[in-house]
Amino acid sequence: MSYTCLPEIEENLIENTTLPALQSHHTFALDTHCDRMTIIHDAQQLKDVDFSQPFCVLGEGSNTIFTDSYRGVVLVIANKGMRIEELNNDWLLHCEAGENWHELVQHTLSLNMPGLENLALIPGNVGAAPVQNIGAYGVELAQFVDYVEGYNIATGKTQKLSASQCEFGYRDSVFKHRLKGQFIITRVGLRVSKSWQPNLSYGPLQQLHEPTPQQVFEAVVAVRQSKLPDPKELANCGSFFKNPILSVNTVKRLQTLHPNIPCYDVDQRHKKVAAGWLIEQAGLKGHAIGDIAVHDKQALVLVNRGKGTPTQLLAMIEHVQRCVLTKFGVALEHEVRLMGANGEYHVGAAHEGA
Ligand code: EPU
Repeated sequence: MSYTCLPEIEENLIENTTLPALQSHHTFALDTHCDRMTIIHDAQQLKDVDFSQPFCVLGEGSNTIFTDSYRGVVLVIANKGMRIEELNNDWLLHCEAGENWHELVQHTLSLNMPGLENLALIPGNVGAAPVQNIGAYGVELAQFVDYVEGYNIATGKTQKLSASQCEFGYRDSVFKHRLKGQFIITRVGLRVSKSWQPNLSYGPLQQLHEPTPQQVFEAVVAVRQSKLPDPKELANCGSFFKNPILSVNTVKRLQTLHPNIPCYDVDQRHKKVAAGWLIEQAGLKGHAIGDIAVHDKQALVLVNRGKGTPTQLLAMIEHVQRCVLTKFGVALEHEVRLMGANGEYHVGAAHEGA
């Protein structure tokens, strides 16, 4: 009797005690869990979610690191599909949030609707792209956004925001501020012009002469592959820190000591400096704490070589921030979203240093 019962009891035990694993749901791949997980295949499912309980919205987890087991429900956005509308001068692409970003870029090129090629190979899904206003090689998502549609938690209704209502900035949007935890992106409307012009402003792309969209795409893919590790081969979250935006006067002071510091104009009073350069000059390229390391080809990227732990990662973030602050007086802010047991948190100061 006891013998026949055993397998059943064991099965129940496993079902009751095994929490959903997050390791394969975030590209930094720390070994953490969550209390519950719901895969959203259809935006209508959001109406049935109990938002009075802690929740975390996740795409492909390429910009989120779970540093602890999350005490709430993880909502994985996985609704698929795209509808194309032809306008006079543009194509309007209505893309479901769960589509993979890079596949969308490839698909639009195959349909002869170029424009997104500079944003090739950025990991993540379409719904995550507006949150941090993804950008690369002289182009930002904001340039293409016609609208962002989502589920408004307070009203329980679908809401469409215009591009200006998204309040886009450098790796920033309203979804990181006023609408944080209030609005779940389910669809993005992107407008690509029928009269394509290449954007070759970024260094390595300037060598291209009258390229086709496909050639720009291939050049971007080649540059990214040469510097940025593929998360499938080496766990990472892309750029870990933001390029700090400093006052023009601070940058002038830095330039007198470090004439080669790469910097870019933001507006009349601010410039952005390359955090990867600051980290490399602080002597940290390739530096490792356990299995967490500063990538040896791009110092702005942290990697998990396999068995990295949350403790090692937090030690690394603090170490990088401390070394850069000591050497340059600049405080680095992490761009990656860190999720602890009770939600998002930040490490270090988010302000300009002395
Ligand atoms: N640099 C170094 N050492 C390094 C890394 C960079 O000296 O280890 C220097 C480079 O030589 C260059 C400058 O810093 O002069 C800028 O480097 P890079 O062009 O590689 O770009 P980035 O500023 O480090 C940003 C984005 C990337 C995006 C690239 C290209 C942020 C936080 N990162 O990186 O985005 O692909 O520009 O446009 O804005 C991401 O967000 O995940 C991401 C990869």
